Amino acid sequence: MNSGEPVIRFEDVEKKFGQNTVLSGLNFDVAHGERVTLIGPSGSGKTTILRLVMTLEELTGGYIWINGAPLTHDKRGGKRVKLRTKEIAQTRKKIGMVFQHFNLFPNMSVIENIIEAPVHVLGRDKAAAKKRGLELLDQVGLGDRGDAHPTQLSGGQKQRVAIARALAMDPEILLLDEVTSALDPELVGDVLGVLRQVAEETDISMLIVTHEMQFARDVSHKVMMFDGGQVIEQGKPDDILGNPQHERTQRFLTSIL
Ligand SMILES: Nc1ncnc2c1ncn2[C@@H]1O[C@H](COP(=O)(O)OP(=O)(O)O)[C@@H](O)[C@H]1O
Ligand SMILES: [Mg+2]
Repeated sequence: MNSGEPVIRFEDVEKKFGQNTVLSGLNFDVAHGERVTLIGPSGSGKTTILRLVMTLEELTGGYIWINGAPLTHDKRGGKRVKLRTKEIAQTRKKIGMVFQHFNLFPNMSVIENIIEAPVHVLGRDKAAAKKRGLELLDQVGLGDRGDAHPTQLSGGQKQRVAIARALAMDPEILLLDEVTSALDPELVGDVLGVLRQVAEETDISMLIVTHEMQFARDVSHKVMMFDGGQVIEQGKPDDILGNPQHERTQRFLTSIL
């Protein structure tokens, strides 16, 4: 697993929606335990990148490798071959995603949301999954809300449940897509606090899309600036966010202040 291969490798990734080419010739690696923040204007392809890794979208060209193994498409005898659904599902188990709009199952309690995938995808014992789920809820500051219904929670609480739900799968990779963008400002801090703790206490590799630049600076090892589906510049957070070289990065950072 920790073979020196990158946890995520994008190789010549292309994504078109119909005639619209959103990503082309995209190459980058994420190392084991690395946390990478993607920044860039709306429509630059950040969400598409995360959805490709989560296999919610299918790439139209190139390859994504997870720990050196193909995610959805393999190279066989010089040909690009799509993997079988079962093979894809095997790799996807290692990957968790938290969305801007929480996406909790509305017909389930908080604890049911959390144990659903561990029980049904990983085949874990229900009682053990529940015990672990309650520990995770405790970690995100919601230890007493296991029986609550999502509609009884604030946005910030829903998002902390969504984080606990992703962690319940013991992911190697966590994808965070603007997880605080839909929250009232006073609820943002708790959610970022939980994520800072996850970053500190685990070696989960993360791809993070956020406009919270202080958070990005504190938790990420690398920042990549995207525009038009291309990497415009990348480097250490202090360099890219504090002293951007590219005019488009400067303009973008000014625009979100
Ligand atoms: N399901 C889709 N169908 C068609 N076009 C899409 C779809 N999802 C995203 N796009 C297009 O892909 C481009 C990149 O979108 P997105 O990845 O959401 O950007 P970002 O997250 O950086 O704002 C946009 O032009 C968007 O309209
Ligand atoms: Mg987006």
